[in-house]
Amino acid sequence: MGEHRYKRSIKILRGNMRLQTTEKNKLVKTGNKMKKQSKSIVESLPFKIKDIKLAKLGRDKIDISEKEMPGLMELRRKYSKSKPLKGFRLTGSLHMTIETAILIETLKDLGADVRWASCNIFSTQDEAAAAIAKTKTPVFAWKGETLEEYWDCTLQALTFKNDLGPNLIVDDGGDATLLIHKGYELENYFNKYGKLPKITTKVDEEVVIEKLLRKVHKKNSNHWHSIIPDIIGVSEETTTGVARLQQMVEDASLLFPAFNVNDAATKSKFDNLYGCRESLADGIKRSTEIMLAGKTVVVCGYGDVGKGSAQSMKSYGCKVIVTEIDPICALQAAMEGFEVRRLEDVLDRGNIFVTTTGNKDIITLKHMKKMKDQAIVCNIGHFDNEIQVDALNKSSAKRDQIKPQLDRYTFKNGKQIFLLAEGRLVNLGCATGHASFVMSTSFSNQVLAQVFLAKNKPKTGIYDLPRKLDEEVARIHLKHLDADLTKLTKKQADYIGVKINGPYKKDEYRY
Ligand SMILES: NC(=O)c1ccc[n+]([C@@H]2O[C@H](COP(=O)([O-])OP(=O)(O)OC[C@H]3O[C@@H](n4cnc5c(N)ncnc54)[C@H](O)[C@@H]3O)[C@@H](O)[C@H]2O)c1
Repeated sequence: MGEHRYKRSIKILRGNMRLQTTEKNKLVKTGNKMKKQSKSIVESLPFKIKDIKLAKLGRDKIDISEKEMPGLMELRRKYSKSKPLKGFRLTGSLHMTIETAILIETLKDLGADVRWASCNIFSTQDEAAAAIAKTKTPVFAWKGETLEEYWDCTLQALTFKNDLGPNLIVDDGGDATLLIHKGYELENYFNKYGKLPKITTKVDEEVVIEKLLRKVHKKNSNHWHSIIPDIIGVSEETTTGVARLQQMVEDASLLFPAFNVNDAATKSKFDNLYGCRESLADGIKRSTEIMLAGKTVVVCGYGDVGKGSAQSMKSYGCKVIVTEIDPICALQAAMEGFEVRRLEDVLDRGNIFVTTTGNKDIITLKHMKKMKDQAIVCNIGHFDNEIQVDALNKSSAKRDQIKPQLDRYTFKNGKQIFLLAEGRLVNLGCATGHASFVMSTSFSNQVLAQVFLAKNKPKTGIYDLPRKLDEEVARIHLKHLDADLTKLTKKQADYIGVKINGPYKKDEYRY
């Protein structure tokens, strides 16, 4: 693999590094007394979290949330005897929240040997991580990791006893998948040229990854090649992670099968929409305590997350303006009664700006300089590069941290803006993410995807959830909301050309 090819794939990495905050991770406990450097590619730790004493609080919250996650509970009932994941090593890289703890315990109930890291430096609920560590499940996550710590945690989650890798991966945003692919490329480069390429990227996070991979390479120059044959597949949680996988399929670099959980109707049409409809406001209000009614909110992007975000702000009595590049989504926004404008034309009108695009450089430094005094800027898309945080931090604006995940920037002319969660997803950085019930729909799909991969061991490619299973996930959750589903008669089923028990829609149907 030549240098050019190597550079091409690094482009899919996102950009900004968060500033070091004053809240350092001095409290992180490893639960490991042994300090000796091992020969293994990483020192094998039983867990690495903020504080094991939080386990009781975490367990209480898990007990409460389990009642709101009927999908996961039903899957436990269905599969805990047959244990379809028994004998499989499973790595998770997904926000370490209370809901994720319930997902982890479901995967364990189905027999998997689990190791877990978060997929964002701010999204861990420390009590959830503690409750999981208490059960002796290796978990590597705490709220407020540095980038170095974040990628070390991902490597820990990917490294089982004797340096074995996972058979199965649950990924959210594609970071675990990315580390494996980048490690593999680095080894290919070394095998071809007899040396490692120079680190040329100027992007801080990419430098962190490159340095980590060089450390691994020093310990074992064939580590990633040796673990890849054991990988059966990955199930990917979110839009941005699926976009990364699709790029890998296009340039023929995907090394193992992938299951697209995001595009199950019971994931993206619920979590992305109804989840964000509640958790966006939660994040903004917990961090700023601002009154939303009457404010002008600019929502950039009107996909599933944008729709939920715009609806949310409207429901609080905000005036909502939408920006879009896609005429279909723009027309949808207009016909919902939202004003559709270009961002540069509404900078002096918005009190709150929210990015929801999964794209980069949506709010630039130039934009931020032109915003109204006291404007609030945040992102609910997967990566922080929707907002030019790096450029803002390097600019002459003075940064004051009001509290973790709430920063005020004062520009030279005295104008101030607030940035939430350092541009990372505001609902997980400033609040606790989506509520349990909607995560039950998402995570039921994750479990079904893992069972599918373990059972079928498919060829490399991207797979979708069959519509019938999607309908099954919805059916389980309907009961919880006391909703009565109408049953088709045989005559009706024949008339519309479906089976009485579904599937009721063609794969192309968009909901
Ligand atoms: N925070 C969360 O809890 C959460 C939950 C689900 C998804 N996500 C993430 O949110 C992001 C969006 O997900 P989605 O499912 O809504 O994706 P989507 O593809 O449905 O929507 C994104 C929209 O942004 C628009 N867009 C792209 N570039 C734009 C630009 N320059 N200006 C204005 N609009 C632009 C696209 O046309 C599209 O309509 C992804 O990164 C996804 O991974 C976050």
